Amino acid sequence: MKVLIVGGGGREHAIAWKVAQSEKVEKIYCAPGNAGIAEYAECVNIGAMEFEKLAAFAKEKEIDLTVVGMDDPLVGGIVDVFQAEGLRVFGPNKAAAILEGSKAFSKDLMKKYNIPTAAYENFDNAEEALAYLETAKFPIVLKADGLALGKGVLICNTLEEAKEGVRTIMLDKQFGESGNTMVVEEFMTGREVSVLTFVDGKTIKTMTSAQDHKRAKDGDQGLNTGGMGTFSPSPFYTKEVEDFCEKYIYQATVDAMRAEGRTFKGIIFFGLMLTEDGPKVLEYNARFGDPETQVVLPRMKTDIVDVFEACIDGTLDQVDLEFEDNAAVCVVLASAGYPEKYEKGFPIAGLEEFKKHDGYYCFHAGTKFDGENIVTNGGRVLGVTAKGADLKEARANAYAATEWIQFENKYKRNDIGKAIDEA
Ligand code: AMP
Ligand code: GLY
Repeated sequence: MKVLIVGGGGREHAIAWKVAQSEKVEKIYCAPGNAGIAEYAECVNIGAMEFEKLAAFAKEKEIDLTVVGMDDPLVGGIVDVFQAEGLRVFGPNKAAAILEGSKAFSKDLMKKYNIPTAAYENFDNAEEALAYLETAKFPIVLKADGLALGKGVLICNTLEEAKEGVRTIMLDKQFGESGNTMVVEEFMTGREVSVLTFVDGKTIKTMTSAQDHKRAKDGDQGLNTGGMGTFSPSPFYTKEVEDFCEKYIYQATVDAMRAEGRTFKGIIFFGLMLTEDGPKVLEYNARFGDPETQVVLPRMKTDIVDVFEACIDGTLDQVDLEFEDNAAVCVVLASAGYPEKYEKGFPIAGLEEFKKHDGYYCFHAGTKFDGENIVTNGGRVLGVTAKGADLKEARANAYAATEWIQFENKYKRNDIGKAIDEA
């Protein structure tokens, strides 16, 4: 089989690595890919939003399966373009990807189908939003409706901050068109858990749980980032929590989408908050999480190509999805200054060390080959993942492996997975 992966971050590196394990796969392409993905795949210089070019490439190379890693192309309708050309593609079509593409849509869906989530109101008018906030309880959460690179969520502690937030999202349009509509949501407290699932339109199978660390600095301080590290499984995702989610959240979401005429095939990523009143949905994503994927896929036993095919064919009920009974931790090595200003272009040393050790992985997020060296090429540079018998061992292994890598301005959080000490 020939497989094309669309994307070029740590998530797509982990997907490419996992696809490469499949005996059915003879050749992998990745558009646009990165310097790490190049080890498993031929990287093709086509952007993830160039749907027509990607489809033409898939036809020319007789690609059997295309896997889309990123949210923007999915929400933009890449799957519809591929399907119209008769190409096999894994991911939700445009009508279904709205589950991630519009927070107002997803909140209304949850309300209509009684799926537990925070109380909310949607606004497409700033005046009305401001009037509502005058009487609201604080803290309160403001969310730009559309995709905003994970930055469109503002937690406001006071009315003043909330007014400023309305200006940022709806009037100054800092997140562009994403801010035409805004969700105002009740602030929830509790542990966050990420659960990635495979969906074939009717059947849903969950992967092992994970937890992300979104803030830039230790102790969950600093700005929100794309994710500074993850661990899997989450010790807070108990059997009881899982049973509740299976009963009231997972299948209910899949059934709701089908009932709305938006049959969902692909990945649903459930961002959950474990509140005092039980688990509630924080957000849906229509794709693998980044960097959750970097700890989930290394623990997956099942051939991922079989699962992708079953999702497309509607035969997921026949798949036995299995995970190893161990743990994994991913520590992101970033460029100092991320997510604000940072320098790039520094040579990276130590990458070969990962080849010498089983159970250790170095997924590339922002790297490129400059003709001589692999150099830093982004805010998040590498995701260093290690497995262990349990979370503590995995964390010790991952932090030891971060020392194998050297580049100028290397920055990491030192407390990834620390929460597990309290479990
Ligand atoms: P989202 O993109 O919706 O996942 O939001 C990003 C982050 O903001 C989440 O991972 C949470 O940490 C936080 N967040 C979002 N919604 C809420 C909420 N209703 N209450 C508390 N925190 C929230
Ligand atoms: N790690 C959060 C996300 O992928 O959206």
